[in-house]
Amino acid sequence: MSYENIIFEIEGDVAVIRFNRPKALNAINPGVLEEVGDALDKIEADSGVRVLVLTGEGEKAFVAGADIAYMVKLSPLEGREFSRGGHELLFRLENLPIPVIACVNGFALGGGTEIAMACDFIYASENAKFGQPEINLGVIPGFGGTQRLSRLVGKAMAKELCMTGMMISAQEAKEIGLVNRVFPHDKLWEETLKTANLMAGKGKVSLRAAKRCIDRGFDVDLTSGCYMEADAFALCKASPDANEGMSAFLEKRKPEFKGELT
Ligand code: CAA
Repeated sequence: MSYENIIFEIEGDVAVIRFNRPKALNAINPGVLEEVGDALDKIEADSGVRVLVLTGEGEKAFVAGADIAYMVKLSPLEGREFSRGGHELLFRLENLPIPVIACVNGFALGGGTEIAMACDFIYASENAKFGQPEINLGVIPGFGGTQRLSRLVGKAMAKELCMTGMMISAQEAKEIGLVNRVFPHDKLWEETLKTANLMAGKGKVSLRAAKRCIDRGFDVDLTSGCYMEADAFALCKASPDANEGMSAFLEKRKPEFKGELT
């Protein structure tokens, strides 16, 4: 599939999806959803990809939300389908076995904040702005915002953001726990790649196990989560990378993880 709405590249171990509708501040239409879905198919099929980064093309926006010019024409049931299509894609993104970083280089509003929240964590430029402004359009977040935002920042903060439609700065987003780190605009990409490459050098089995345990454990009680962790710990111990990591420590050398799944 050739892409018109995104740019998809694999740089070494790191795959990059760039939302690429800068004239519309990278707003999401069905074409964007379809192309991102296709890129995820390619990532899933390529065992050499160790980390995925999502970012926006242009200086102004990560993604300024769903495309309002598209949404205005939808019937209620078509609106439901659009929302379900967004949910489905973001569940796929969230469930990728590799780490996914949202590199938020500007406006991340509505669907933009929702995409970023489906990534494992968010790095933001100090220019970035976050928010769920759908209330200003007479609707509510449709790509999981009412659900993921409250899980990330708590119910009261999620209600304030969804019920006022206010925009917050990258720094405020960091203070409420939505964003992990804020960088000067011209350092964001470099810092994101640094972290992506750091994770790409770790053992594949342990990376997957850490992600899965944190995600799956979040919605269950502590005891069940800890049982899950013990099983995943055993799985890590069965991987050659665990032997390599521990032997390297004892031999006072750097580990050379093979990243194999067997
Ligand atoms: N959909 C369609 N087009 C959009 C857009 C969107 N979400 N956001 C921006 N654009 C377009 C503008 O219409 C404008 O196009 P023209 O040049 O053809 O007029 C272009 O991008 C540049 O935008 P502005 O001139 O408005 O730029 P600005 O710097 O003055 O303002 C902004 C930037 C504050 C982000 C403003 O564009 C804005 O408020 N955008 C809408 C944000 C929004 O409401 N997002 C939520 C959408 S609903 C949603 O996402 C539902 C869901 O959960 C799935």
